[in-house]
Amino acid sequence: FFGSRSTVTERNPVFSTINADDIAQFKEILGEKYVIQDEERLLAANTDWMRKYKGSSKLLLQPRSTAEVSQILKYCNSRCLAVVPQGGNTGLVGGSVPVFDEVSGVLVCEAGCILENLVSFLDNQGFIMPLDLGAKGSCQIGGNVSTNAGGLRFVRYGSLHGNVLGRRVWADTFRDGSLELSRIPLETMAIVAHFVSVSKRTSSMSVHVGSLEAVLANGTVLDMLGTLRKDNTGYDLKHLFIGSEGSLGIVTKISILAPPKLSSVNLAFLACKDYVSCQNLLLEAKRKLGEILSAFEFLDGNSMDLANVLILGTNIYVHASREKLEAFLLRSMEGGLISDGVLAQDMNQALSFWRIREGVPEALMKAGAVYKYDLSLPVEKMYDLVEAMRIRLGPAAEVIGYGHLGDGNLHLNISLPEYNDNVLAQIEPFVYEWTSKHRGSISAEHGLGLMKANKIHYSRSPESMASVTKWNQLNREELPLGASEEVFMVEKKIILS
Ligand code: FAD
Ligand code: MLT
Ligand code: ZN
Repeated sequence: FFGSRSTVTERNPVFSTINADDIAQFKEILGEKYVIQDEERLLAANTDWMRKYKGSSKLLLQPRSTAEVSQILKYCNSRCLAVVPQGGNTGLVGGSVPVFDEVSGVLVCEAGCILENLVSFLDNQGFIMPLDLGAKGSCQIGGNVSTNAGGLRFVRYGSLHGNVLGRRVWADTFRDGSLELSRIPLETMAIVAHFVSVSKRTSSMSVHVGSLEAVLANGTVLDMLGTLRKDNTGYDLKHLFIGSEGSLGIVTKISILAPPKLSSVNLAFLACKDYVSCQNLLLEAKRKLGEILSAFEFLDGNSMDLANVLILGTNIYVHASREKLEAFLLRSMEGGLISDGVLAQDMNQALSFWRIREGVPEALMKAGAVYKYDLSLPVEKMYDLVEAMRIRLGPAAEVIGYGHLGDGNLHLNISLPEYNDNVLAQIEPFVYEWTSKHRGSISAEHGLGLMKANKIHYSRSPESMASVTKWNQLNREELPLGASEEVFMVEKKIILS
């Protein structure tokens, strides 16, 4: 492992070890080219974005169809081989890397559309991807859905639970004007993209991308597509897959509701003298800008320093329509909520503002080791934790706070030259206990991964944890989901079973 003791995970002895017969079987299913044993490529797949978790998988599989995913999983299930789905490998909680020391798991490299390609594709069609995040150039939509990623537009468009559709989108009404996604020149497109079609509904203002389908660990293809607008026959299963981080199966097809492009987009980069002013500004922005507010991000002075930007004070972004925004800014300046600021003059300037905000995680990575916490907290309490942590750690580490203020989501990051177990002991469990005491969530948008798999109790009651366990037991014993062993098959998620 690269990180400190927090990244060490024991392998579950239930799983078998991969052998030559297994590899031959995979080659038969996928063809030689898609069964990767090349050390360099394996190293990349075995290492997470933060270079904190390191796996030892000896095999990377690149299936190109749902049928291939199904065959692979069926085989792995019969041999009891561990599988880790991987999308763009940009997850921040060590969820996409197989971390087990000696024994190789099988890394099923579930691919898909790179988020940025979807964003620009939709933009060209006059629509918006309701999801946007700094990792858009690498992360894949399958990974986004599996982590229920939040990102920069959540304040307006909400969670993927609301945007991922569970019905067929290529019903007759959508056929007119439909476009095959495979026409977009995406060099990295793989399995999801082979199936996803982007349909443009000409008769109204919305577009739906693909649809949600998943393959369970025993190979069963779970078709959660439907043609009906309303369907209350039992559970809405797709929601279990959104945010389940690969623990229930591999997502192979997705449907996302994309709203029409806005006629104008404006961005202001503002400085407030303290955190209380930021809070008040958010309140005012919600009141006065209402539905035209599509992002409200926050960076503290330390984040800005780290991103090498010479703007002092506490900074926030507000993303809204120009006329209303100008009036709002004027009032907020007069009222003393804003001490300085700039309204982007054109798209290039707006993009350069966003690059500052989106560049913070990368700047942190470059600065050395980082302990990263992704918390939901009441907005009025949020920055107290950053300050409490600064007092607690003293000069031993740099404590920085940024995040999605509009959603009550703090990214608390502790940066130091290298991982240090003594510092970690000062941070944890303090950070989790503090969050729990204030009825927050220890995982706002990044998921649990390996990092927080055994920390669920800080945010979930014993009763709700017991009901997940119960559900898994029922799932194995009684439910006709073909779910007999799939919860076990995804090794890193064993905590849920
Ligand atoms: P991976 O990292 O490959 O996998 C993530 C998890 O999903 C793993 O548990 C993996 O096993 C599982 N998985 C992947 N694909 C599938 C599939 N098809 N079926 C089943 N399981 C699957 N996250 C946010 O929420 N908001 C942000 O604003 C944000 N910004 C980021 C900025 C940067 C610079 C970086 C590096 C990361 C950021 N993230 C953010 C975290 C990360 O990008 C998201 O979690 C993203 O959704 C992960 O997608 P991925 O394709 O890289 O998935
Ligand atoms: C962000 O908002 O920048 C991401 O969630 C990544 C991070 O928390 O560092
Ligand atoms: Zn974030």
